[in-house]
Amino acid sequence: MRPLIVIGNWKMHGSLASNQDWLKSVARGMQSGMPAGRKFAICPPFAYLAQCGSLIKEHAIAFLSLGAQDVSSQGSGAYTGEVSAAMLKELGCQYVIVGHSERRQLHHEVDEVVAAKALQVLDSGMTPVICVGETADERNSGRAEEIVCAQVAKQVSVLQDRLADCLIAYEPVWAIGTGKVASAQVAQDMHRAIRLRLAEFDEDVASHVGILYGGSVKPDNAVELFAMPDIDGGLVGGASLNPQDFLAICQA
Ligand code: 13P
Repeated sequence: MRPLIVIGNWKMHGSLASNQDWLKSVARGMQSGMPAGRKFAICPPFAYLAQCGSLIKEHAIAFLSLGAQDVSSQGSGAYTGEVSAAMLKELGCQYVIVGHSERRQLHHEVDEVVAAKALQVLDSGMTPVICVGETADERNSGRAEEIVCAQVAKQVSVLQDRLADCLIAYEPVWAIGTGKVASAQVAQDMHRAIRLRLAEFDEDVASHVGILYGGSVKPDNAVELFAMPDIDGGLVGGASLNPQDFLAICQA
């Protein structure tokens, strides 16, 4: 049985003061217990990982893990501005998002780089959250499944059996930050297609890998999305910045 996982991707938001308030509210909200068999994490900007890690400990928020939004594809060396997987592990991260569409579009990250990052994350004992997804043009031209399955196939070719220790996040680019959520059925169909593509490689890996949905997840659509058989949780952007919305999605 795959656990339901909700991960908040804060993107480039937050401040020392607002993070403190956010964690205080979520600590209070989680105090009365959370649904069993679920996992929750937040991915703040690199600059706030240490602060958020200590606040999670200070408030004893046992239900909440820490994650990062990106990582270097290299282990160490002369890579100005980069952050290695070992550093993220040392700061207490359990998850690392790789290949987010904003990195693919704005920083020209290709599938090979995404896979190299996922390997760094795995080698440091953390879980990569590998993002895939099609643009509006790709969907409108009827190629959504072909594009997404090709992205998945690239990861399969590099990561092989190690994919069993990864999460995949299906994030249609047209649904990110736009309020245009994929309907639960459209999302389910793509999650199913991803799982079938994984099963072509290995049935066991396919049944183990958690596939999260991302793109305008809100408290009012999370219930329907999470009820789908191949949707194993959500990667939540905007709504994760509001502690009450994040809690409501975690409980959906
Ligand atoms: P929104 O939830 O703001 O659409 O962002 C989704 C996302 O990109 C999460 O990684």
